[in-house]
Amino acid sequence: MIQPEQLSAMAQRAQTDPIADIFNAVMPRQAADPSFISLAAGPPQNQLLPNDLLPELVAAAQATDKRQGLLNYTMPQGLPPLRAGFAAMLNKQGVACSPEAMLITSGGMEAISLAAQLTLNPGDTVLVESPAFPGAIATFKQCGAQVVHLACDKDGLKPDVLEKAIAEHKPKLVSLMVDYQNPAGWVMPAERREQIAGILKATGTLAIEDGVYSLLRFEGEPVPPLQSYAPEHVMYAASVSKILAPAMRIGCLVAPGALLQKAAAIKSSYNMQASGFTQALTERFLNPDALYLDKQLARLRETYKKRRDSMMDALQEHLPAGAGYVWTSPAGGMFLWLEGPADTDFTRLFKPALDNGVAYVPGPMFFADPSLGKTAARLNFASTPEEDIPEGIRRLALTLTGRR
Ligand SMILES: Cc1ncc(COP(=O)(O)O)c(C=O)c1O
Repeated sequence: MIQPEQLSAMAQRAQTDPIADIFNAVMPRQAADPSFISLAAGPPQNQLLPNDLLPELVAAAQATDKRQGLLNYTMPQGLPPLRAGFAAMLNKQGVACSPEAMLITSGGMEAISLAAQLTLNPGDTVLVESPAFPGAIATFKQCGAQVVHLACDKDGLKPDVLEKAIAEHKPKLVSLMVDYQNPAGWVMPAERREQIAGILKATGTLAIEDGVYSLLRFEGEPVPPLQSYAPEHVMYAASVSKILAPAMRIGCLVAPGALLQKAAAIKSSYNMQASGFTQALTERFLNPDALYLDKQLARLRETYKKRRDSMMDALQEHLPAGAGYVWTSPAGGMFLWLEGPADTDFTRLFKPALDNGVAYVPGPMFFADPSLGKTAARLNFASTPEEDIPEGIRRLALTLTGRR
């Protein structure tokens, strides 16, 4: 029997993502009942993944790989043509980066985790949004950091709150998403991004911007990333999980040179390098001549917008007018944030909701302290077919109002 003291302090701190418990509860229901509707899902819908492209990508990667080494190790920093492809895609979004100033990672999660390991010692403070992405919270806690949530409004993190928190906590890292934040769905306006970048620069504070949803815009004009206003202070995490396929496990970390070298050293101690095989496939997918990315983005944006609209209409129809429910109206991404009146407890209602044939992610999952966020829930509008969304929201409304 392993005793706790046989484990390192880090291993003792390590916890699996609490959302895994949600999926463990939801999956058997889905398997047993095909009419069950999960608005909890994180992953893209299987039918929207470009499965049909797979043979074409493999053939194209084999034909263009000069080394004939698709199955071999590649450069630890990442396949050079893939880095060029990522840089071109990110430059278009306004991210200040070059193929040399990025590390290919095993997904966006590894990029966030590397940013944490680069900066956080046990006892250090990391500032995050309210609510925040649970994967990031878990990795910060594993580093032994104190996770402090900052107040946000419909435009995201508030500059005056950030300024005060930096003065009070002297954080080693600020973690934020400015495009279609997971879970809240908000977009930070350009002016606020500039203000936040100004605060980071003036106080010499490092941040990690998580841009994994940034290309999933279906409304409004793109806004330059926070990183573009302060590239020496803001590291940037990107991924192809939401635009190509999570199973590629390909992302990248953009960071100033000294940080990047250290990140590469830390990464090599875990897994040497990201899979060379899926890097080659991703390189073909991002290649602008092939238009794969453009076509897939157009398909996702069109589908997600229709599904978002369907969810907004259904919420409007089924949640009692004047009963104090509010929800965000995301212009992109995959999630919206629903808040109920002060006595709502989405954690308590989770099991009755399952019994009513619907699932969501309760708000406390998005806070380091699970006593917070009880009145809120994250709803995924992107991964459920448009025609099932109204029924899912009807079941949710029945649960909330205590009827069946
Ligand atoms: C906000 C956010 N960041 C990062 C990730 C990590 O994605 P991946 O490691 O698959 O690129 C996810 C995955 O769901 C996410 O929602």
